[in-house]
Amino acid sequence: MALTRVCSVDELPMNQAQRVVLEGVPIAVVKDSAGDVHAIGDTCTHGEISLSEGFVEGDTLECWAHGSAFSLKSGKPMNLPAYEPVPVYEIQIQDGDIFIDPTVTKEITA
Ligand code: FES
Repeated sequence: MALTRVCSVDELPMNQAQRVVLEGVPIAVVKDSAGDVHAIGDTCTHGEISLSEGFVEGDTLECWAHGSAFSLKSGKPMNLPAYEPVPVYEIQIQDGDIFIDPTVTKEITA
């Protein structure tokens, strides 16, 4: 599909997830305290909760419902009850704007 502009890096609040829906795919976009931008699937794999309603802690996004924290880098849950990862999306930053293609996910091997 196509890269879609989400917002500018400056518009994205730090340590707070922003929910976007691109081509029907819900994605949580996060700028961490280091200023790095991440995009992971917005739906918790434990209970269909929107992760962007949760809390950014370091390089994780924590589900408010039962506390599973998902790595912003790998999409993997760091603790139970969730045990399935969420997808991690490739991001391109062009002239300070964030672009995401919701059909392109990162290959996470580790
Ligand atoms: S719904 Fe997210 S941890 Fe249970």
